[in-house]
Amino acid sequence: MTTAGVRSAFQYGLAIFTLTALLGLANATQVFGALDRNTLLTHLHSGTLGWITMGVIGLTIWIFGGTGRLMAVRLSALSTAAYVLAFWSGNVYARATFGSTELLVILYWWWFAFASANREGFGRLDIPKLSVVFGLTTLVIGSSIGVLAQILLASTGAIPQTPDLVGAHASAQTGGYLVLVAAGFIEWQLTGGGKRSTLGLVQVGLLFIGGLLLSFSLLSAAQLGPQLSQALPGIATLFTLAGIVIIAFRFGRAALGVSWTSGGARHIAIAVGFLILAVILQAILVQQFIAAQGDVNKVSIGLLHALDHSYFVGLMTNVLFGAVLIFNMDRPRTWPWADNVIFWGLNLGAASFIAVLLTAGSGEGAKPFTNPVSFTAPIMGLAALLGIATLLMRLQSSPAAVTSAAPA
Ligand code: HEM
Ligand code: HEM
Repeated sequence: MTTAGVRSAFQYGLAIFTLTALLGLANATQVFGALDRNTLLTHLHSGTLGWITMGVIGLTIWIFGGTGRLMAVRLSALSTAAYVLAFWSGNVYARATFGSTELLVILYWWWFAFASANREGFGRLDIPKLSVVFGLTTLVIGSSIGVLAQILLASTGAIPQTPDLVGAHASAQTGGYLVLVAAGFIEWQLTGGGKRSTLGLVQVGLLFIGGLLLSFSLLSAAQLGPQLSQALPGIATLFTLAGIVIIAFRFGRAALGVSWTSGGARHIAIAVGFLILAVILQAILVQQFIAAQGDVNKVSIGLLHALDHSYFVGLMTNVLFGAVLIFNMDRPRTWPWADNVIFWGLNLGAASFIAVLLTAGSGEGAKPFTNPVSFTAPIMGLAALLGIATLLMRLQSSPAAVTSAAPA
């Protein structure tokens, strides 16, 4: 069956997302006390690799019309689960080993996208597919920096602060990879893709250069000298902001025109709003970082975590939930009532969680239920868990149920 790989990637992604959401709930309520660094990194990478990147793999197979690939998806999920558990174990050798196998997985899917694009011809490729190929290219670069950090940690006992490998890694992955693939998949789901325009090409170029430049400026701050290392992150952010303005212009109207009462398209549409929010928060964070003369300890933790969840939940979880709903349209809608609870719970939960992080600050380390994070983040977490259960059931059900209901 042609779409088996897509379905399977979504299923593995959703299953791993359960762990992310449960750890998020533990962090929000603090009922088990403050989570240690290993557990926080497990929350982070189960979300970004286990959920988001497995989902992106599914969408990549889908957009390029790939067939089969079931075994590749299974091996990718296995490697990803092993790497997430390695983070949890805190064992630096396991982290270096499975970080490296994860990089191979990422290289494989980058190659799949690149080869498929090449077959179609880069000169004819539409904007969504171009966005995905360039986004996955940044993922390869960001993940290579991550693996380098893992190997240095295992061999020398620490990740060097200069150059700022972790900052360069994180900014490539979020401000580069996620922005590009999200823009591509949103345009494809909202408009059907198929078009190529100069403005669209400029958009892809700005977003690609903006993400890489930000990462590069953190990596080479020491070599660039004080003036350039202060100016470059700001210039990079301007590139990304300009790309986002083009996005709002090119498909903002299509986003506003979706049905807000039912269906998957509203998840895709609201993701545009969170994309704009995330990039604005990123610009403010870069501003704080420049004002602090590159001292990451001086930036606001609440702002950083607000930015993280705008990208990971507001943008990517909406894109993926919406895409799975649309992918599954020919299947029975188990628990039809759940759709509205998931959409409003996830989005009102995420919006109030982000607002609280920005105004009251981070709740990490606070006593249980003493910080407003404890009351807002669980709305988002419980809606995510309901989404996982509902979508897994729908992905599992067979389309035959629909067909057999039709008159013979
Ligand atoms: C093969 C893939 C990846 C590898 C090898 C990797 C590796 C790492 C390492 C070694 C760290 C630092 C951990 C520490 O402080 O001890 C880290 C942090 C981080 N990673 Fe990844 N990672 C990968 C994928 C991703 C992806 C796909 C994303 C996002 C889409 C991501 C986002 C982040 C963020 C936001 C941080 C935290 C930076 C901070 O502490 O402020 N990573 N990663
Ligand atoms: C793709 C999904 C997600 C990713 C990648 C992600 C990532 C992160 C990151 C990077 C942090 C900062 C950890 C640190 O201090 O190093 C964090 C904190 C947190 N996450 Fe998530 N998260 C995701 C989903 C969720 C969900 C569904 C919940 C639901 C309850 C949640 C709740 C929290 C809470 C409460 C904090 C602490 C915020 C604070 O008080 O400062 N996260 N998450």
